[in-house]
Amino acid sequence: VDAALGDGPLRGKHILVTSGPTHEPIDPVRYIANRSSGAQGTAIARALLSLGARVTFVTGPADVPPPVGADVVAVQTADEMLDAVRSAQDVDAGVFAAAVADWRVASASDQKIKKDGKGLPVLEFAENPDILATVCASKARPALVVGFAAETQDVIAHATAKRARKGCDWIVANDVSPATGIMGGTENDVVLITETGAEDWPRMGKDAVAARLAQKIAEVLNG
Ligand code: CTP
Ligand code: CA
Repeated sequence: VDAALGDGPLRGKHILVTSGPTHEPIDPVRYIANRSSGAQGTAIARALLSLGARVTFVTGPADVPPPVGADVVAVQTADEMLDAVRSAQDVDAGVFAAAVADWRVASASDQKIKKDGKGLPVLEFAENPDILATVCASKARPALVVGFAAETQDVIAHATAKRARKGCDWIVANDVSPATGIMGGTENDVVLITETGAEDWPRMGKDAVAARLAQKIAEVLNG
């Protein structure tokens, strides 16, 4: 871990990153989830580490391995992710890149649900806690909070409304319609929504998006 704590503009800063999907159990062998490889969140954590930050990386079951040098907390569900996020102390900035499932099954079955020939199972849902909004409203709110907004239409309007609703400082917004190829791909095409408006970034690799975001975070944290 100490090898990552080298020099750089984020030396001495503690940054929390959430990443990946969450899995919400239906029964011991089935779950519902969001589509997320964890690639963008992992790239952001790596970029922050390379600028010298200490990174707490709270991740759901992602396709890509977690960044070397981060303090990794692996979780499955949104409830577990919220607990892990709340446990992080003295956080200077939070980057909430996880694709959190909005709903969980209200009462997951202890036993595998069987095809018993008596009809189809009916799942009842409960709403998951909004981790980002909870952190923004908490006494321990980090100085800088960055949320994400994956949209399939009206990206800027939805993301601007989301920024206000959640109470975060920035929103990294993107269009994840299947035609864009962004979900599961290596590139991203984002608009950064801040208090001063919308910055349209060119399409670039997820690593380049991460580097640019990390640089901007360093500028803000260093006043
Ligand atoms: N988020 C979160 N906890 C949730 C849902 C979302 O922390 N239960 C965070 C995501 O990590 C992201 C931001 O909130 O940073 C926006 O997520 P998104 O799913 O786009 O927003 P929602 O408020 O869930 O709205 P929507 O109905 O569009 O899904
Ligand atoms: Ca959502």
